[in-house]
Amino acid sequence: MVTAALEVKPLSPVMGAEIRGVDLSQPLSAQTWNALRAAYLQYQVLAFRDQDLDEDQHQAFAQRFGELQVHVLNQYQKRGNPRVLVITNLKEDGTPIGEHPDPGAAIWHTDGSWSARRPLATMLYSMHKPKWGGETLFANMYAAYDGLSEAMQRRLEGMKAVHDLNYSRSQTNAKQQMTEEQRRAAPPVEHEIVRVHPETGRKAIYLGQHASHIAGMPLDAGRALVNELNAHATQDKYRYDHDWRLHDFVMWDNRCVLHKATEFDWMKDVRILRRTTTLGEHIPAFS
Ligand code: SIN
Repeated sequence: MVTAALEVKPLSPVMGAEIRGVDLSQPLSAQTWNALRAAYLQYQVLAFRDQDLDEDQHQAFAQRFGELQVHVLNQYQKRGNPRVLVITNLKEDGTPIGEHPDPGAAIWHTDGSWSARRPLATMLYSMHKPKWGGETLFANMYAAYDGLSEAMQRRLEGMKAVHDLNYSRSQTNAKQQMTEEQRRAAPPVEHEIVRVHPETGRKAIYLGQHASHIAGMPLDAGRALVNELNAHATQDKYRYDHDWRLHDFVMWDNRCVLHKATEFDWMKDVRILRRTTTLGEHIPAFS
């Protein structure tokens, strides 16, 4: 049982903290859980170094934050466990795919914004890291909202964007379009562009690449506004870039963060991450 108080070391002035003194493979005390929850809400991205986590331990920790998502794109699911995704640039026979397995991951997005029941946390565990590149970049959507002009903040109040996985895949992943069944399971949904975080009460921009257009606005004008806001929201000044170390465990708050992966040598190097995503609006209390 981990009972010691956490050490929280900010990773950048914008967001992100490294958490020391926690072994995620072990049960956590109420004190540690509460400290972790507070750090997560404050820093939005948490990184734990040198974790030794098997799949069951990873999943057990992730489940404490809520029900695990079964991703509609079942081609990424780990065989035998639909709640765990393996992000790897290798095919099953060990040869390289030659790109990110999901090229859409290289465009700014928030996980699962295309679904009515949205994710709370995504957690990635580094199992193999490339020599260079393959970072995950994060952008702080509270700061991006605060950085809008008052006129734009007023304009966006109550405005909804249409999020559509089929649209975003058609933009980024020409080789792997969704199947008919996947499309039926993930129809377009509307979400408010200004999302009030259910736990901190702060306002955040909620867009990213799954946002196709604006409800009630002509398609082109809506797309132009989505693009303008995404460009604003992902400026360097709102970013923390995570340069992976082997066995890092990184989790982020999809309610107030955009993220994307960067390039590496997809043909000659290897990047493998184990991923879980928990659904929900609120982090459960300690149990
Ligand atoms: C993701 O978008 O969930 C994956 C990000 C990454 O590959 O760094």
